[in-house]
Amino acid sequence: MIRGCWQLSPGHGAGWSRELAAAALDRAVEAARPGRLVLDCADIYGGAERLLGDWMASRQTKRDETVVHTKFVPDLKSLPSMSREYVREIVFRSRERLRVDVLEMVQFHWWDFSISGWIETADWLAELLEEGVVRHLGATNFGQRRLAELLDAGIPVASNQVQLSLLDRRPLRGLAQFCQERGVALLCYGTLAGGLLTDRSAEPGNEADAPKRSASDTRSLAKYRLIAEEAGGATALQRTRAALSEAAERHGAAMADVAVAYVLGQPAVDAAVVGLSRRGLTVAGRKLRLQPEEVERLEEAAPDAVPGPVYGLERDRRSPHGRIMRYDQNAGSAPDA
Ligand SMILES: NC(=O)c1ccc[n+]([C@@H]2O[C@H](COP(=O)([O-])OP(=O)(O)OC[C@H]3O[C@@H](n4cnc5c(N)ncnc54)[C@H](OP(=O)(O)O)[C@@H]3O)[C@@H](O)[C@H]2O)c1
Repeated sequence: MIRGCWQLSPGHGAGWSRELAAAALDRAVEAARPGRLVLDCADIYGGAERLLGDWMASRQTKRDETVVHTKFVPDLKSLPSMSREYVREIVFRSRERLRVDVLEMVQFHWWDFSISGWIETADWLAELLEEGVVRHLGATNFGQRRLAELLDAGIPVASNQVQLSLLDRRPLRGLAQFCQERGVALLCYGTLAGGLLTDRSAEPGNEADAPKRSASDTRSLAKYRLIAEEAGGATALQRTRAALSEAAERHGAAMADVAVAYVLGQPAVDAAVVGLSRRGLTVAGRKLRLQPEEVERLEEAAPDAVPGPVYGLERDRRSPHGRIMRYDQNAGSAPDA
């Protein structure tokens, strides 16, 4: 299990106070024991890297029990003029914000593959592995073709972070098998579809049978409501939720536990990245295992209908999925957004 920190970013939804964030992180550390808590952050989650650095500094024992993965998400407008200096500036800034000597993992995102320079950029990131600034290099939102190009260029990619859930099974149409063959771990976000695949989404203001956006949506919910529409809209969502609920009842677990167990059971999947919960909720992770016939029942209920390759809809900046993205959050050497 990896806990995601996009939720801590001020632009994500109803703000998290520092106290609320610290309490959620404290609970997540406890839930991860006797293992270490792994957090997923990014250079563009305005203020979240610094918040994590401050939190770890204020709790020495928890620092030893916590590992942070971050990302390198260069601004779209900077891609044509990408340079080694830009890469180093952003990565060293993450290290300074997180107050660590070595960044455990930096995950590389590239908005637009029609703009060249991404292999070279990945190579500049790989130099930081050799220098001991970064321990592992990951990719995020890479489909099979582009991931193969990175690997064939000799870039040591340890993992690829992609969206995978019962509603969005695009990675299971080739990418997962490819990752298994090439030894790349899939780290999967969107497993709860921002809350749509949890008991919570039956509550007012968060209704699962209303895939249309609501004013109180977090950015994550807005993103996954669009995915739910692609997957077949309200009917598909209701059927998926009913199947999750039925399996959850059988296991005496929560719908979130089943939704995550489904993802963890897929080929090449090493971890589910589940957003930190304002309510301090945790997920059973690998403690809950689904039988093959249970997986079959879930898949029968949830149509595999999201079209195209991994991150294909999102990569199209004119699509509804592309239009809700924020492309220039790093702003060169700008301080925390
Ligand atoms: N690489 C990328 O492009 C990318 C894109 C999106 C996300 N991510 C990463 O993935 C992480 C997860 O974000 P996501 O957008 O995919 O959201 P998600 O994990 O599908 O949903 C997160 C929401 O689910 C609720 N939740 C958490 N645990 C729960 C539980 N046990 N039971 C019921 N509800 C629970 C929380 O809401 P409450 O606060 O209401 O409990 C939380 O805000 C992000 O923080 C980020 O690190 C990466």
